Amino acid sequence: MLYDKNDPKTYNNEMGRYKTVRQLAFIRRFLPDEGVRIVDIGGGNGRLAVPLADLGHKVTVVDECRLATDLLSKENHPNIMCIHSDILSYHTSASFEVAIAVDCLKHMTEIRMTTLFSKVADLLLSNGVFILIDINTGSWHYRFKRVIKRICRYNIASHSCYISALQQSRFEWLQSCGSNWMPFTCNSNSRLVKVFAVLESLLMLDRWPNQSPWVMIASRMS
Ligand SMILES: C[S@@+](CC[C@H](N)C(=O)[O-])C[C@H]1O[C@@H](n2cnc3c(N)ncnc32)[C@H](O)[C@@H]1O
Repeated sequence: MLYDKNDPKTYNNEMGRYKTVRQLAFIRRFLPDEGVRIVDIGGGNGRLAVPLADLGHKVTVVDECRLATDLLSKENHPNIMCIHSDILSYHTSASFEVAIAVDCLKHMTEIRMTTLFSKVADLLLSNGVFILIDINTGSWHYRFKRVIKRICRYNIASHSCYISALQQSRFEWLQSCGSNWMPFTCNSNSRLVKVFAVLESLLMLDRWPNQSPWVMIASRMS
């Protein structure tokens, strides 16, 4: 299924823009100025790959959705290579300095997290960095959703489960940050998203990843 960065029903709305700003800021903490080889796992049609490539990084997007990789290929970005593949069957002689997996773990319902993270480790150089960004089922937000039975069966974990799966897969934890402390749907276009984003910053809720609805976790190959 295509999750189009330009579609108002997916990312082209207030929540999508909030996510993109927060996620890019977190990813950029672990990138030198330019020229880093990045693999964007389940990168869709380049919501994050394009701004990272615009900064001068070389981004390889691996996505199993043909439509997404075709759309991104048509942009002809000189710093982006698109691969149409399931991440587990992707093999390359290249090694990457950084891997990102944003908003895609939840869609990999058939893959054990440690299997995926071990595959990521195989794609990285020996001190490579892996950044994952996804929802946090251990948060009050998702616990409440489970109580009212509004949660799908996703392949996702709590903050501490992500970290233990990373550690079992040759990664050491570097840093975590919380986000999405707002009572809106993931594709909301409410102007109040900006207000909640300011509140989130003022109250420093990003420092509370265990209870954040979304988590951003950086780790390094150990
Ligand atoms: C919600 S979209 C997120 C796209 C992008 N990461 C972003 O944040 O804008 C999830 C993406 O993961 C991709 N995906 C899911 N399972 C995959 C797999 N096993 N291998 C590669 N891509 C996968 C889907 O095709 C989809 O494009």
